[in-house]
Amino acid sequence: MLWPEETTRNTAGELTIGGISAVALAEEFGTPLYVFDETTLRNRARRAVASALAGGPGSRAVFASKALELPRILSILADEGLGIDVVSGGELFVALHSGIDPHVISFNGNNKSQQELREAIDAGIELIVVDNLHELDLLEALTRDRVKPVSVLLRLNPGIDVHTHDKIATGVLDSKFGFPLWNDDAAAGVARALEVSGIALKGFHTHLGSQLFDEAAAALAIEKIVEFAAQMREAHGVEFEIISPGGGMGISYHEGMPEMDIAEWMGGVADTLERACARARLPQPSLVFEPGRWIAGPAGVAIYTAGSRRDIDGIRSYVSVDGGMADNIRPALYEARYTAELANRIGPDDRKTVTIAGKYCESGDVLIRDIPLPPIEPGDLPGRSGRGGLLHSYGEQVQSRAQACCRARLRGKGRAHQAKRDIRRSAGARRDELTRSTFGVK
Ligand code: LLP
Repeated sequence: MLWPEETTRNTAGELTIGGISAVALAEEFGTPLYVFDETTLRNRARRAVASALAGGPGSRAVFASKALELPRILSILADEGLGIDVVSGGELFVALHSGIDPHVISFNGNNKSQQELREAIDAGIELIVVDNLHELDLLEALTRDRVKPVSVLLRLNPGIDVHTHDKIATGVLDSKFGFPLWNDDAAAGVARALEVSGIALKGFHTHLGSQLFDEAAAALAIEKIVEFAAQMREAHGVEFEIISPGGGMGISYHEGMPEMDIAEWMGGVADTLERACARARLPQPSLVFEPGRWIAGPAGVAIYTAGSRRDIDGIRSYVSVDGGMADNIRPALYEARYTAELANRIGPDDRKTVTIAGKYCESGDVLIRDIPLPPIEPGDLPGRSGRGGLLHSYGEQVQSRAQACCRARLRGKGRAHQAKRDIRRSAGARRDELTRSTFGVK
């Protein structure tokens, strides 16, 4: 699915999304503009929620909110029954201020700070996915006096190569994420977790990577994790309630690219879990799936305004638009390819190959290389399809992390002191305000 479900053309030839003209939206809000279709979001959320039930009682789907962390959208998705996964204190803040019930929030990430863990515990979120021994140390200090233990999963790295861009593969040997399963690290993680009285180890998590087009790797990971769980029962006499195979279900970004069938994915993983648990004589844990872009990606369209043009004879024609790598870093980072159409008119049939470039002062700031489009004039509105996922969140403030910012004071007293205070305030204590203003949360 390349465009939101209700994308069509009106009688004037303008692209309409959910019945609203892209031209009218661009006039009202300006460009670059990201438009999301609620129907598409809701339908995809429903499919994910229903498909997760294949895992049996307690199995569920949570939305990896790094894919699109806008308050209104999080509340739509939660309304459809998705939990919400966060990877920073900023994302937690956005989720909580979007009215998400803390009992459906989980917290992933490879380097959670003490402050972030404290905020998560204080908010009473459902699950913390622990990535390493350092986080167990932090949790021990934070939960020492707790009566009710904090529920955690341990993130495991099964060392499985997946066929995707190497920057979005996470379960490979050379990865910063999770306790390796191929040596003693994972067993040491379990032993340490069981020592911390303030936490309850509920099970295991893994995430192998993104843009995967079958569930074979996730199923293999499940087999390895179940085998490991059986060894841990042997060693410690404990059984586990939850296994999370993460997300990674691939979507189509341009013609000819497939989309993963989410029911097939979740059903395949659930079948593997059932067989593996029967083999190992383990009670079957529930599955927590974490789709991100599969939910949000196809629900969005980006609309830009075309401006200048540079034709280089025999080489390439560039049309520059008013956005670029600040609103979509993916082409520069992962050579990601997209498709586009003119949103304001159909245009003649004789398409010309052009390259849509951004407006930033970087040669790498290209949004779509060599795409056939009707001749584009300044003021035209190229609409880029399928682009809900992982764009907003990878703009200025990646995954809602507060950025340290340095402001130089050129005049006045106490310059160094002031600069230090600015850095401290913007990196730490003012994070809430920053996030609030970035996301328009009241
Ligand atoms: N769960 C965990 C623990 C994750 O780290 C991720 C994505 C997901 C779930 C959701 O994965 P998805 O279903 O969206 O593939 N910036 C890159 C993607 C990085 C994804 C990182 N983790 C991109 O734009 O392709």
